[in-house]
Amino acid sequence: MSTPPKIGIIICSTRQPRVCPQIAQFVLDTIKSKQSTQPQPDTTTTTSILIPPPVLNLIDLSTWALPFFNESTIPRQITSPSQYDHEHTRAWSAEITSYSAFIFVVPQYNWGYPAVVKNAIDYLYHEWSGKPAFVVSYGGHGGGKCNRQLREVLEGVNMVVDAGGAGGVELRFPGREVLGKAARGEDIGLKKVGGEEGYWKEEAIAIAVAYEGLLRVLVEGQAKV
Ligand SMILES: Cc1cc2nc3c(=O)[nH]c(=O)nc-3n(C[C@H](O)[C@H](O)[C@H](O)COP(=O)(O)O)c2cc1C
Repeated sequence: MSTPPKIGIIICSTRQPRVCPQIAQFVLDTIKSKQSTQPQPDTTTTTSILIPPPVLNLIDLSTWALPFFNESTIPRQITSPSQYDHEHTRAWSAEITSYSAFIFVVPQYNWGYPAVVKNAIDYLYHEWSGKPAFVVSYGGHGGGKCNRQLREVLEGVNMVVDAGGAGGVELRFPGREVLGKAARGEDIGLKKVGGEEGYWKEEAIAIAVAYEGLLRVLVEGQAKV
């Protein structure tokens, strides 16, 4: 792999106001800070080769504003993006094709994940298939129900979920005050993470572990080519 792989961090809420962009940025910053202090994927085995440092990009479903799924053909049966009916599908297909792996940052809504995420997934199949992913959920109790449900759906489009058994990462708001701020889209103070007053320090480690698993799949995938 000569060009750096792109990893997409998907912002999975679209309401206004919302907290998801802050949490997605926290995930990105966490990975970047750990990346600088951690070794690259193992290159000592015969099956592994080094990959260039990945490029991490945010993908905001709010910006994409896809209509409710309106293609005539089941995406799994599509053999070329030119077969899609709509330009918005071809554009979404090109976007997802350009990434090697994904991190879904998702709020729990009523014990599930937001409908906009399912819609964005259902538009495509081959563009997701075979790529590694993990899910970072958040909520009053960490969003475990939505995390498990979304991971099952990602397996349904043949993604490699939770490489190395890392599991999903659940971010639990540390109290009612933060939950209220999140709901109002106010600053929830994530810049303090890692500092004296920070929270989600253990979760930041879990994000780094899950990310390592994701990189491992990329490295091993490259080794098979
Ligand atoms: C429609 C809706 C349903 C919600 N359901 C849950 C829930 O089941 N569990 C939970 O912990 N929080 C729930 N919340 C609170 C969210 O965790 C909180 O509002 C958070 O800010 C949502 O993320 P967002 O701001 O990025 O949309 C819900 C919020 C909304 C808007």
